[in-house]
Amino acid sequence: MSLANLSQAANAKDRVSIFEMGARDGLQNEVAVPTAAKIALIESLAGAGLKRIEAGSFVSPKWVPQMADSADVLKQIQRQSGVVYNALTPNVKGFELALDAKASEVAIFGAASQSFSQRNINCSIEESIERFIPLMELAKKHNIPVRGYVSCVLGCPYEGEIAVSEVARVSEILYKMGCYEISLGDTIGVGTPQKARRMLQTVAERVPVEKLALHFHDTYGQALANILACLDLGVRVFDSSVAGLGGCPYAKGASGNLATEDLVYMLHGMGFETGIDLQKLALAGQAISTQLNRKNGSKVATALLAK
Ligand code: HMG
Ligand code: MG
Repeated sequence: MSLANLSQAANAKDRVSIFEMGARDGLQNEVAVPTAAKIALIESLAGAGLKRIEAGSFVSPKWVPQMADSADVLKQIQRQSGVVYNALTPNVKGFELALDAKASEVAIFGAASQSFSQRNINCSIEESIERFIPLMELAKKHNIPVRGYVSCVLGCPYEGEIAVSEVARVSEILYKMGCYEISLGDTIGVGTPQKARRMLQTVAERVPVEKLALHFHDTYGQALANILACLDLGVRVFDSSVAGLGGCPYAKGASGNLATEDLVYMLHGMGFETGIDLQKLALAGQAISTQLNRKNGSKVATALLAK
């Protein structure tokens, strides 16, 4: 990678699509938040220009109680046209609940690590794929797009190093099953730029890079550097979380996704278009941080709001 390549990419005025994770990946790992505050967050994110918002998850409330009100959230939000409101669905039961709550699309989530799969969704990688088949069939029948996540692409909290070939294998399976996009998750935020780049290159040999997204948690402060290292490979979809909310309940110590404000600031600075109003986004992040009585996890928002 060279800086010349990067500026070339930016000169192209490429549009970058951001998938906002705050209301799901963020709030699934924070103290419980009232339903009304979740709704206010989602509506303010759409108001800031985000077009893809993960609004909740239909998982077992025993496993993730913070998401137990996802149906209420999805049913009560004021929807904006052109905005996709997505929800996680680990199985057919979750899909049926998401359908009833009128999620615009759903996401299945697998892993490149057997141990993480077992701890996160209580089955092996192969069993998870089996479980996804009837869900994919139902989604096709109802015309609901399905996104696919692969967790632990740059390391696992239980197994450590994960082979990139395994990341590529699972990604290709989800893609061939019909997922319209595969989001590659550095669940515990341990990746570094060259590693992230090599991983993306390897996966892109099996799944077209236009169908890939990067989902980096920022536990070790590397997420922005990793994205910068991957941009010139052509990836244009990134998952991030307003105010850097969250973590993962099955990856102890993992912190939230990269803060959306920090990502947007970098991308705008490089000449990319996102369609997002950074000031409105920073206010949305500050409101939920205040609600959670939590320090705003975005450096950019903190700087902007201090002006
Ligand atoms: P299980 O216990 O094996 O499921 O859990 P089961 O099928 O044996 O059912 C047990 C009970 O759960 C039954 O209820 C089911 O009805 C109920 P009971 O009869 O005991 O009263 N149940 C459900 N309830 C609501 N919605 C459902 C559902 N399914 C079953 N969909 C299961 C298996 C997958 C359900 C469980 O392990 C689970 O919910 N896991 C979710 C864990 C999770 O949400 N993790 C965080 C999201 S993943 C993530 O954050 C990573 C990501 O961000 C990418 C990255 O960073 O890498 C996406
Ligand atoms: Mg995540």
